Amino acid sequence: MIKFRVTDSHLESYPDGCMITGIFEESHLFPSTKKIDNISGGYISSLLHRGAFQGKMEQTLLLYDIPQLYNRQILLIGCGKKYNFDEYCYRKLIRKIILLCKEIPIVKILFFLSELKIKGYDNYWKIRQTIEIVEEELYVFNKFKNNKNKSNQSLQEIILHIPNTNELTYCKQSIKDGLSIVHGIKIAKDLGNMPPNFCTPDYLIDQVNKLSSRNNITINIIDALEMKKLGMNAYLAVGLGSSYTPKMPIIKYEGHPKGSNVPPIIFIGKGLTFDSGGISIKASNKMDEMKYDMCGAAAVYAVMYIATELNLPLNIIGILAISENMVSHTSFRPGDILTTLSGQTVEVLNTDAEGRLVLCDALTYAERYKPDVVIDIATLTGACVVALGHHFSGLMSNNEDLANDLIIASKQSKDYVWRLPLNDIFQKQLKSTCADMTNVGGKSGGAITAGCFLQKFAHKYHWAHLDIAGTAWRSNYCDKSATGRPVALLSQYLINRSFSHKNKQTLF
Ligand code: BES
Ligand code: MN
Ligand code: ZN
Repeated sequence: MIKFRVTDSHLESYPDGCMITGIFEESHLFPSTKKIDNISGGYISSLLHRGAFQGKMEQTLLLYDIPQLYNRQILLIGCGKKYNFDEYCYRKLIRKIILLCKEIPIVKILFFLSELKIKGYDNYWKIRQTIEIVEEELYVFNKFKNNKNKSNQSLQEIILHIPNTNELTYCKQSIKDGLSIVHGIKIAKDLGNMPPNFCTPDYLIDQVNKLSSRNNITINIIDALEMKKLGMNAYLAVGLGSSYTPKMPIIKYEGHPKGSNVPPIIFIGKGLTFDSGGISIKASNKMDEMKYDMCGAAAVYAVMYIATELNLPLNIIGILAISENMVSHTSFRPGDILTTLSGQTVEVLNTDAEGRLVLCDALTYAERYKPDVVIDIATLTGACVVALGHHFSGLMSNNEDLANDLIIASKQSKDYVWRLPLNDIFQKQLKSTCADMTNVGGKSGGAITAGCFLQKFAHKYHWAHLDIAGTAWRSNYCDKSATGRPVALLSQYLINRSFSHKNKQTLF
């Protein structure tokens, strides 16, 4: 892992490393660039004068052996037009720098972080984003490759300069938060990328047990026998065709200074280690990608890890709705009627709409904790991918404040969500002739009717549903990988909640 450091001492005092300094298109030099220019006897300005560098967005020029700065590399980076420079440009630049580091032997980066001013975003945000983007760009999953294809990436350390000594503590906190979050994101990605013959329900349970030694954590695993006793028949039905019995781990983190009676924030993650569709079997094209159908559970697992790492002053419960949806003579069938834990009955019209069946019982189970809020995270519908594509997760909620908190956290973390409506007018699409509801809502508004289905099990508390079907993994040819989303969003939500519950002030 790359080392990150903030410093308020002059970067010129470092004897080596690659100094990164920006130039706007208007040939406007940053203070650091001016300094380098002065030290080198006008080397930079003469380059600009000769038209060697225009400062266009993402333009780069790597310089060696500059007069008076012999031991160092200097990377000029174009920042585009000054009045256009915003948080997206910042993110682009960091990405560009890291891509370059993959190709050129740069070991240490010295970066004048605070010179890139962005309205509304402070150094805390810039540091967090830098760490997240760097780790995102350098992530590889090569557990199953014989040829680990070691890249020639040489980058080891990034030193970020801030001129203001008062900010040092705050910025160090940013590094700590950032590193914990990226570690969590990596955990979520690794779990997501694991193949379904390795990442089985039992494997996920083993991972959960690994958390038990961490501070403030207790783990309780609801097994099939207990589910049967409780009446979680919808949850159980989904796993009937699998050779692994379903289990539902409850990971409790009690960090609130006022103790365990403070109502918890609950996360519920859909954890289908493989979703074949069951008897309503899926088409074979891309069926392999249904190994990612546990990315909701992976995100919840990662967030619980982050909560312990950051020692958050909150009570949080993570519930992983783990199962496997397979085809067998023991599988549940289209036509089956299931009595859920809530007592409501569901007519199964399609065994491939299994996510909502495990989630509905987990949602009812969550009632017993008298939660402050419940947020479920699920790769729930292909329809959500059609509606929102791959950049925005679908957000549905029965509570305005909770929805807004998530939208704010999503804008801060750049882990985007877009809210879809939940409204009674959709409920008639779930009408059944012989049960209280069906498990599918027909062709139109598939992401919403799935949300409406879940809503019927979530009316006792403030609840939000994140459909991450389009965002949890990338499925490009030869670039198939879990993204770790929405771990960044959920971590930011928790940090905001730790910072202040009552006033809706944001961090940046
Ligand atoms: N896990 C899938 C959703 C999914 C499909 C996510 C493709 C990403 C890509 C879910 O269990 C499912 O199969 N949903 C069905 C619901 C339908 C039967 C109402 C779907 O979206 O097709
Ligand atoms: Mn399915
Ligand atoms: Zn599924």
